[in-house]
Amino acid sequence: MAIDIAAVLDGCEDLAARTPNALARGMEGSAILAIASAVNVLAARGVDIANFTVGDFKPSQFSIPPALADGITKHLEAGNTNYPPAIGIPELRAAVRTVYKRDLGLDYPEGCVQIGSGARPPLYAAFATVLEPGDIMVYGIPSWNNPYYAYLNGAKAVGVETKAENGFLPTVEDLEPHMRQARLICLNSPLNPAGTAMSKEQLKAICDAIVGENRRRSAIGDRPLILLYDQVYWQLVFGDTEHFTPVGLVPEMAKYTVFIDAISKCWAATGVRLGWAVCPPWMRDRMKPLIGHMGAWAGRAEQHATAELLAEPERLGSWPAEFTEQVQARLTALSDGLLAMKADGLPVDALEAQGALYLTVKFDLLGKTLRGQSISSDDDIRRYLLEETHTAIVPFTAFGMTKDSGWVRFSIGAVSVADIEASLDRIRTALVRDLPA
Ligand SMILES: Cc1ncc(COP(=O)(O)O)c(C=O)c1O
Repeated sequence: MAIDIAAVLDGCEDLAARTPNALARGMEGSAILAIASAVNVLAARGVDIANFTVGDFKPSQFSIPPALADGITKHLEAGNTNYPPAIGIPELRAAVRTVYKRDLGLDYPEGCVQIGSGARPPLYAAFATVLEPGDIMVYGIPSWNNPYYAYLNGAKAVGVETKAENGFLPTVEDLEPHMRQARLICLNSPLNPAGTAMSKEQLKAICDAIVGENRRRSAIGDRPLILLYDQVYWQLVFGDTEHFTPVGLVPEMAKYTVFIDAISKCWAATGVRLGWAVCPPWMRDRMKPLIGHMGAWAGRAEQHATAELLAEPERLGSWPAEFTEQVQARLTALSDGLLAMKADGLPVDALEAQGALYLTVKFDLLGKTLRGQSISSDDDIRRYLLEETHTAIVPFTAFGMTKDSGWVRFSIGAVSVADIEASLDRIRTALVRDLPA
């Protein structure tokens, strides 16, 4: 008979109370995932929700490239099932260098690539390599998870609040006051959550300032200021938008930049778990044992399959173009529908979708009373949209914005164009019905 473990564990809650474990206890869960689980509760009750919350792809809407699935199967069958090297297999490291040279114009030498199971482990390892406890990491708000990685390294996260007119991206003026104290600056473009991208001028000005600060530090033998450039969405840019890199604009930045990248978003492969860092060799050599001891390497078969497709993208066929088109079609349907409401005088606005899978939308509802409920926070707006229009979104306050503003993120990875149109109809109907004439 099997041992009844639940019975053994019953009543031992005091063990948790007697275990201080400050690091784990102080670690917060993701605010976005908390919102997403509230949505799932409603969905489990049979309510048909248009779920714009998680930055993920629902496989029934977006499947991975068939060539990737076939390649992984082929390499599993061929026996690629043992531990890979801690830095990643040589074929994949070479293929990443090929992509950076071919597509980004950056000819990195051997020794600069660290593979991991998605972007997160290299991101964590980069923070751990650069930061000492108490060091300052500067980043733009709203932002994805940067503060959590600072926390894990005992560093201080200093967020600078950005502006809608700058696409919610930090400018050199925003960052400069913190540059002398900072050890790490984190930029992300295209940006999660805003779906906007850094302009050439904006990025170059920041890079020039970082190079200037590093020249000052070199002269006095001080520790460098490193830029972490998270470009996991760089292949997803639309229209006239171009993706720029710090090193492409200011080559000297190669000394101070760590790129974070992955197949997660550009191949709708968030669950395959394969990403990398590209950085100076000293940094890569320190990241290697961290990734190795965490065991945060990507699967060997996944590495082989990815290497083949990165080196020879023609093997992907029409998949990348079709994928981008489908992402863009959803963002366009959403943006067109919301801007049509704006044109009809409803208090709604949206920024241009430049990249990633996100649209930034403003619901100017603060201070209003809708269906007898006064709307006094972004969370009230979230709840109103969820309950009255069955539309689930994430307010920018969940991405660190301290003031309620009405700005929210729509993520399109889990919905069809038909879902979007149905949700837009419900939003329009509710706003017309509930706002005073
Ligand atoms: C800006 C940004 N960087 C990194 C990641 C993590 O990517 P991965 O799933 O490859 O760990 C995400 C995921 O949402 C992201 O939005």
